[in-house]
Amino acid sequence: MDYNTFDFVGTVIRADEFARSRLSAHRALHIRDVAVEARRLAVRYGCDPRKAYLAGYLHDCAKGFSEEDNHRYIEKYGINVTKEELSLGNNLVHSKVGAYFAKEHFGVDDQEIFDAIYYHTVGRPAMSMLEKIIYTSDFIEPGRSMDSLVPLKKLRSLAYEDIDRAVFEITRSTVEYLKSLKDIYICPESLKTYDYYEKRIKNGF
Ligand SMILES: [Fe+2]
Ligand SMILES: [Fe+2]
Repeated sequence: MDYNTFDFVGTVIRADEFARSRLSAHRALHIRDVAVEARRLAVRYGCDPRKAYLAGYLHDCAKGFSEEDNHRYIEKYGINVTKEELSLGNNLVHSKVGAYFAKEHFGVDDQEIFDAIYYHTVGRPAMSMLEKIIYTSDFIEPGRSMDSLVPLKKLRSLAYEDIDRAVFEITRSTVEYLKSLKDIYICPESLKTYDYYEKRIKNGF
């Protein structure tokens, strides 16, 4: 991303204004907190901190979309969405739609940011560092209180020690939680993420 030509500050401000105009104060704050957490993790892991900050600001940009908005974008961009994903309202779909919306509405033409938004809810095997940073920040930002199998406090420090382990623990918590609800759709991508990071940690690759 060329910061000489790309209006980084202006885009962050627009993303913040957009969030505050379309989402609850709680969710708008979550977006800011994810951006700040992502920037810190980027510094820790040698990623571009501004890119992480912007990706954090944009990761939930489609969170407030109506079903109608989603259908419009899915059709417009030919986004690959299953009917099971659609059956969960905006819970899963906002990631995919948000990646396209960030590009169109905010002019963020960057494949790494696109992927970080696209995969932030369910992850995928072999994520890039930026993808792992957004996936992790979304779960550990300071406003989150949902506990995981590993206590949140421990998970927060784990994220700065070994991000692959943090990704694994987050995925394990999410999958186990969904399993406990019974009869709820678990996205196959989540299970693939789970398997991949479990193997990665066990086999040390
Ligand atoms: Fe999200
Ligand atoms: Fe989020």
